[in-house]
Amino acid sequence: MSLARNLLLAFLGVIVSMPLWAQNSAPSANLALTPPMGWNSWNKFACNVSEDMIKSMADAMVKSGMKDAGYQYVVIDDCWQVSRDKQGNIVADPQRFPSGIKALADYVHSLGLKFGIYSDAGSKTCAGRPGGLGHEYQDALKYAEWDVDYLKYDWCNTTTQDAKAAYANMRAALDATGRPIVLSICEWGKHLPWLWGEEVGGNLWRTTDDIQDRWSGKKEWSPGKCCSFGVTDIIDANAALYSYAGPGHWNDPDMLEVGNGGMTITEYRSHFSFWALLAAPLIAGNDLRDMKPEIHDILTNKEVIAVDQDALGRQGRRVWKDGDLEVWAKALAGGGRAVILFNRSETEKEITARWEDLDYPESLSASVRDLWEKKDLGKMAGKFSARVAGHGVVMARVRP
Ligand code: GLA
Repeated sequence: MSLARNLLLAFLGVIVSMPLWAQNSAPSANLALTPPMGWNSWNKFACNVSEDMIKSMADAMVKSGMKDAGYQYVVIDDCWQVSRDKQGNIVADPQRFPSGIKALADYVHSLGLKFGIYSDAGSKTCAGRPGGLGHEYQDALKYAEWDVDYLKYDWCNTTTQDAKAAYANMRAALDATGRPIVLSICEWGKHLPWLWGEEVGGNLWRTTDDIQDRWSGKKEWSPGKCCSFGVTDIIDANAALYSYAGPGHWNDPDMLEVGNGGMTITEYRSHFSFWALLAAPLIAGNDLRDMKPEIHDILTNKEVIAVDQDALGRQGRRVWKDGDLEVWAKALAGGGRAVILFNRSETEKEITARWEDLDYPESLSASVRDLWEKKDLGKMAGKFSARVAGHGVVMARVRP
């Protein structure tokens, strides 16, 4: 056999053995090229979900300007499902979703938004509803029939299942329907999903246990059972994972708590700034129907969102630290940087970002824009400094 023929056969062998999603023909091949943006019911409403509430939230997403700012997916989390019928089909709660899930998806789509749903790789969801185990292909077909665009797949009640295999199976089931469906892996970072999430066709993967609406501190769920995370705990847990994120596959530091009442405006601004710098999915978790103006201004800050959605798809990282003071940077398409000056202390402090920490030559002259003040600070060489409130950030875009 000629060398050329051998090479051709080897090449075809590789193609054929690749999972469907990794071939360009897979329906999910080009999903989530920037981090998904949307809203999810869990952080604010937990099991208190219904079609009326979800519809009013979709309306609010449009009316509030969130849709214009880039939010797209409306996702029902746990508790929409109550049982399986005789054929094993998943059944939505008939009291809370009397019109059925398809009608709800149609409504969300009629507003120009996308629709997401939640299930679990184990026998039951975390709230004890029927899980997907053994019904993966059947459920995927049902989701496709309902025109679902996004699936969050949780990890409760999975006993001895292998996480990588379980999520690969669900991705294959979703792809087999022919519908492009974003797969949100939610196994809380337990099996290091950043090492295999992209390979199995996951578009995002949770990196930690659940966020709660507080600034700092892990709390046990029950004695001996660790832990929900505060915002700074999640930032720290994600700091080392920057190399794993990229177009189509993102670290997910969990959904936003902005607007849920447990933090100050300064802290919520820091929370949102970091999620953008970490190229995190921006999934709001508050009640969009009655947002205070300050909360609305955080969630719809288009310049901060542009950092999150930057086409280069890099996750930012910490580039300098001295005690409570830190500088974080994210490379942007076109050679710019998004920079966060972060003050973990309780009192205002001055922080300096040096060009050498941004991988710029010291002599470079670059324009600096404050993304929260929405103000150009002028051209600077070598560094820029600012006073930063306690628990606060100054977030800037630096452009050579
Ligand atoms: C887990 C997930 C949460 C939420 C709940 C629902 O805790 O991590 O984000 O989906 O389950 O029960």
